[in-house]
Amino acid sequence: MADIGLLKREIKVLTFDLYGTIVDMQAGLREAAAPLLKSKGWDGDPNRFVTWWRRTHFENSMIDALCDRGHTPYREIGHRAVSYTLERAGVPHTSEEVERLVSEIERLKPFPEVVPALERLAADYRLAILSNGDRDMLEAAEPHIGFKFDHTISVQDAGYFKPHHKTYENAARTLGVDRLEIMHVASHAFDCIGAKAFGMRAAFINRRDRPFGRTRHEPDVVVSDMAELADLLT
Ligand code: LAC
Repeated sequence: MADIGLLKREIKVLTFDLYGTIVDMQAGLREAAAPLLKSKGWDGDPNRFVTWWRRTHFENSMIDALCDRGHTPYREIGHRAVSYTLERAGVPHTSEEVERLVSEIERLKPFPEVVPALERLAADYRLAILSNGDRDMLEAAEPHIGFKFDHTISVQDAGYFKPHHKTYENAARTLGVDRLEIMHVASHAFDCIGAKAFGMRAAFINRRDRPFGRTRHEPDVVVSDMAELADLLT
């Protein structure tokens, strides 16, 4: 663990990943997908369906950034990921059903400890969302989160998905601070690695007690939830 006193002195802004870090994506999408899957007679585990969906989405967004032939909106990657996953599960579906399921991402609720922790952190730091979601998706999400961030930054402005270095670079420019004055907070190792590789600080929210994995870009702090982060940094 890094020198917490030094971090507290130097960090001015906390940037937060949204899906899975602020909002409970797995539970929210599982609840949204379960009735649809049931109505189609699919007897598999909706939790596994959502895991397939999210992994497919992640893989496709990485392909999009690496091919570097124009940024595809998150929503569209979502539609492709859901229809692929339904097809793979052998579930017939319409494009309206796919679109409805993906639109649930905009209504996801925060993990229970998140908002009180953000309120504590807001006393000492500027708080920003830095998400792979499209601009309008992030705007739509805010009332469902129930917290007003100082900044909401979509990677659409950079034209790549995280962990492309340009997404963190664009965030630092937008926030008008040095990269070392930003701590990025995420429950995905890939996102912490991207932020660290660019030169930001990073906090890994390890809700499910998973290994971070071996890397040259270790997070500065590892905590089990947002309340623990607020305890550490305020
Ligand atoms: C996001 C995804 C990566 O909100 O969780 O950026």
